[in-house]
Amino acid sequence: MINSQIINGDIALLSFNMTDEAMNILNDTSISAFHEAFEKAVADENVKGIVVSSDKPEFIAGADLKMIANVKSAKEISEKAKALHQLYRRMETCGKPIVAAINGTVLGGGYELCLACHHRIAINNPKLQVGLPEVLLGLLPGGGGTQRLPRMIGIANALPLLLEGRKLSAYKALAAGMVNELVKDKEALINKAVEWINTVGKSVQPWDEKGFKIPGGGVHTPMGVQTFMAGSALLQSKTQGNYPAPTAIMNAVQEGLQLQFDRALEVEIRYFTQCATSVVAKNMMRSLFFAMNANKGGKDRPKGVEVPRVEKVGILGAGMMGAGIAYVSALAGMDVVLKDRSVEDAEKGKDYSRKLLGALVSRGKMTQDAADAILAKIQTTDDPNAVAGSQMIIEAVFEDRALKATVTKESEAVLEDSAVFATNTSTLPITGLAEASVRPDKFIGLHFFSPVDKMQLVEIIMGEQSSDYALAMCIDYVKRIKKVPIVVNDSRGFYTSRIFTTYVTEGMNMLEEGINPNLIEHAGKGCGMPVGPLAVADEVSIELMYKVRKQTEKDLGETRDTADARISNLLVEKLDRIGKKAGKGFYEYPEGGKKYLWPGLAEHFPLKEEQPDIELLKKRLLHYQALNAAKCLEEGVLRSAQDGDVGSILGWGFPPYTGGAFSYIDMIGVEQFVKDCEELAATYGERFNPPTILKEMAAKGESFFAAKKEVETA
Ligand code: NAI
Repeated sequence: MINSQIINGDIALLSFNMTDEAMNILNDTSISAFHEAFEKAVADENVKGIVVSSDKPEFIAGADLKMIANVKSAKEISEKAKALHQLYRRMETCGKPIVAAINGTVLGGGYELCLACHHRIAINNPKLQVGLPEVLLGLLPGGGGTQRLPRMIGIANALPLLLEGRKLSAYKALAAGMVNELVKDKEALINKAVEWINTVGKSVQPWDEKGFKIPGGGVHTPMGVQTFMAGSALLQSKTQGNYPAPTAIMNAVQEGLQLQFDRALEVEIRYFTQCATSVVAKNMMRSLFFAMNANKGGKDRPKGVEVPRVEKVGILGAGMMGAGIAYVSALAGMDVVLKDRSVEDAEKGKDYSRKLLGALVSRGKMTQDAADAILAKIQTTDDPNAVAGSQMIIEAVFEDRALKATVTKESEAVLEDSAVFATNTSTLPITGLAEASVRPDKFIGLHFFSPVDKMQLVEIIMGEQSSDYALAMCIDYVKRIKKVPIVVNDSRGFYTSRIFTTYVTEGMNMLEEGINPNLIEHAGKGCGMPVGPLAVADEVSIELMYKVRKQTEKDLGETRDTADARISNLLVEKLDRIGKKAGKGFYEYPEGGKKYLWPGLAEHFPLKEEQPDIELLKKRLLHYQALNAAKCLEEGVLRSAQDGDVGSILGWGFPPYTGGAFSYIDMIGVEQFVKDCEELAATYGERFNPPTILKEMAAKGESFFAAKKEVETA
């Protein structure tokens, strides 16, 4: 667990090496093993200084979240934090100089351990990351980070790092003052650490020295006052009051930095305990960490199904999606055949990779040789036969059923039997598209999100005949490109597009009711969605939504007479306001200026006299999405609530503080949620009727994740 050795005659080198975990993490066992090794070194008269490092590629990935998520009470969590504080405090006051020799990524509690050392040296490796990302999971750094970092680099420099949870490269960490020196490799790292102990060897922290002053000024200096004032306003606009952790971090820094150090640590423990036991942190840890990692790890991969590794992937269509898919595939080491109607079109798609790789090279994240090697993996062509020998095809041509059928047939003519054909269609049911295939068991949906290089989710859609074999290959592929898969069954819009649309349509219902569009947009952002529903409609394009609906109406042989249908008919057919790409939709987009809601909306959707409370609008927007997500579970489109949570956050930006659409229902309580929906249905119609699955759960007192119970015990 901790390798201890004496180096250079009189220096103890303590290296984390957790053999039974994928990475070094801080848990009860590793903390107590380190504590013991550390006390031994302190007690050893022949040891004059201590170097802390790791024998694994990373230094310490952070605290074990299982340890935090599983605590039963506030008392337990605060005692754990207190014990860690005592260890770190003992390190900085033990009288011997301690150097953190940062050989790899160090995050969260691991970096807080470095802060308790007297000096920090890191290897300048482009993959190394340094940071305190706790806030991203609804937590605050609880190992002294909120108190040591601002005392070390100043309040104004520390706050953004704490509030945004930024992970910095070694080089940026040096510039930010988070580490003191950089070296080129592990050998130089240990040598430098030894040299520092032998030459400087200071064993007192700045904040324990007489007359210590916070760099840049304290809380009550003009700088401090201004930082907190501006920070609070910014925070409110960013979090809309939905995330307690950033506020707790700000308070911990503001209060703690006015106190003597040991008292300040107590303040941190108080806020840490509040956050760690909050329902928001539980939601975020459950969905953004545990669930996402389980999906990423391939929890849905059928067991024991052997499939060939994808060495060569054929991508049909080098447009926006195909270009992005080619990039992520080549980056993961696969040979890519990028096929379009002409070589020029295919090359245009390859330009996207040229651009992204060029940016990595210019930012020093990749060498030119490595970028050239990746680019060389993408072969452009207009020849349908060039995909021969691919283990997998990903089709991303225009959203046109006949065209998709043609390219399916062309590919299958040259593919081996073992190859899988995946379509990136966003709206066309997979089972229908599979009719063009002579091997529908190896035909499947692989729905990426735009921009492909940034969006983490991939929705894998099982057509009626898609096999476990096809699914296994897709999950292996998604794992290789380091994205998060969810597996869903075929249905119109699948899961993500179907529910995402409900957010927009509810916004349109409100508009037609005469609710002020400004209020609608505020409600959308206020409940934590990335943008208001009308702005989303503009971004996706009102015309695209109109076309998809028309196609659906044609396929199903029925016409929809709903608010969204009436509004998009008006905007597309009569007003020619098709969305952002045309510079006019619900908003006006003046060139070079800021967008604003189109004043003409007032004429078509006169405001009703009495405007509703914004809280009601927020509730409508979130409840409507969540109840429709539950319908997807009831209909078997979704296989689990957990997938529903992951898909909702990563797919269309359902607010992370809720933990996703299903955790949101749990957070309110299933019974209460059902009651709310019934009340909303009484006023707004049957679209709010709660699905049977929820009514049954409510009757039995069940919940999806027992989130309610967790809160009560906290
Ligand atoms: P796009 O219009 O940017 O690209 C389509 C490409 O297909 C064009 O480069 C076109 O020249 C090419 N193409 C047409 N016929 C071809 C043929 N016979 N062989 C090879 N290439 C051919 O479209 P985009 O946005 O990339 O969408 C592609 C597919 O991905 C569509 O099915 C779309 O519904 C789906 N999709 C789109 C998303 C988006 O955000 N744009 C998100 C998820 C899926």
